[in-house]
Amino acid sequence: MADRLKIGIVGAGAAARWYYLPATRHWDDRLQLTAVCDVDEARAKQFTDEYGGAPYGDYETMLRWADIDAVAVLTPHTLHMEQVITALQAGKHVLVEKPMTERFEDAQRVVELAEEKALHVSCAPPNMLHPGQRRLMEIVSKGVIGKINLIKISQSSMGPGSRPGAPTDFSWFYTAGAGGMSSMAGYGLVRLTGLLGGVKSLSAMATTSIPERVMRDGPARGTTITADVPDNNVIVFDMGDDTLGTMDTGYVVMGTEAPSMSLFGSEGTIEVYGGDQVLRMRLYRDDWDTNVDGWQDVDIPGLDSRWAMHPATLLSLADAVLDGKPLLNGPRQLAHVIEFIEKVWVSAESGERVNLTSDYTPPPWDALPMEVREDRFGLA
Ligand SMILES: NC(=O)c1ccc[n+]([C@@H]2O[C@H](COP(=O)([O-])OP(=O)(O)OC[C@H]3O[C@@H](n4cnc5c(N)ncnc54)[C@H](O)[C@@H]3O)[C@@H](O)[C@H]2O)c1
Repeated sequence: MADRLKIGIVGAGAAARWYYLPATRHWDDRLQLTAVCDVDEARAKQFTDEYGGAPYGDYETMLRWADIDAVAVLTPHTLHMEQVITALQAGKHVLVEKPMTERFEDAQRVVELAEEKALHVSCAPPNMLHPGQRRLMEIVSKGVIGKINLIKISQSSMGPGSRPGAPTDFSWFYTAGAGGMSSMAGYGLVRLTGLLGGVKSLSAMATTSIPERVMRDGPARGTTITADVPDNNVIVFDMGDDTLGTMDTGYVVMGTEAPSMSLFGSEGTIEVYGGDQVLRMRLYRDDWDTNVDGWQDVDIPGLDSRWAMHPATLLSLADAVLDGKPLLNGPRQLAHVIEFIEKVWVSAESGERVNLTSDYTPPPWDALPMEVREDRFGLA
């Protein structure tokens, strides 16, 4: 096998522009961009002119003719399942942005097909690869905060297009198949299940608090769009072992300084800040022997490494394909996360508590990648 993974991107939009194209340039010791595909072929060409590779306007044509080992699926959510399945059927490894699929049964199909074809599916969001996740798992597994009894996850924003700087038309984020649940929940749920394993059951409420919104920037700037998927979701969940949690996720929070996750244990509390990255972690301890109590910031080794970046999922795919390393952000965990999201809709509609059928067992904390490097996205 060559020492670089040949990547074809499908979906030349914001995520490609902000994360994945720069990653192929700055991490060119591991990655080689050989193709970019978009229904807007002019945009694909704009990107290949800048970053290299061949432009395509049709996905199947790219899969058939481009010189690629793997496809990065960076399109709107409703297209993910079909594009992932088609890539696997064409014998390509896959990176897929969140969510892997819309429905749990499709997620199971992806797991089975990837196993059958012996291909890797590297799943965003990248939380499992982040040095902060490793540190969090280490602290919890060593019992620093004791037995965790209560979890609070807050993973809401005001949604794409609500801030200045949208390069594309983000209206589709508010349409069926997308929405805050499908876009935002994964960050908190990958972090949670990577730490404590699968969720047993949940109860949810979902509503649309902002039925009409004006897009603030990008090509859709000034247009009013009607949301046809809930933008405000609140969930209560049961992890088993008498541990309960709450989660809010959606597009109704303009700003907050609340932690994205709080863990309340018998011996202390951990607060985590940041969505796809752990930007800060705080620990509260109350030591009964010394009567010393208080908050401290937790050091996070490796925060400068490339594993702390959003497209680290490309690196983990390269490690898996080129070096045979285990993929720590694989589709089994995401299938469980997608079942959680699906069961939120079931519970919100029925008003009943719903059990999950799938489970997930996280890897040990020291299996997560560790690297301390100077090249902060090539800027050092
Ligand atoms: N926007 C963000 O802040 C952000 C951040 C992290 C991850 N993501 C994820 O990245 C993915 C893409 O989001 P985005 O923000 O880049 O969206 P976007 O709308 O900016 O880009 C999507 C691109 O896909 C193209 N496309 C649509 N249908 C296609 C088809 N059939 N074949 C080929 N190309 C097609 C569109 O023309 C567009 O260029 C989503 O899964 C999203 O959740 C987005």
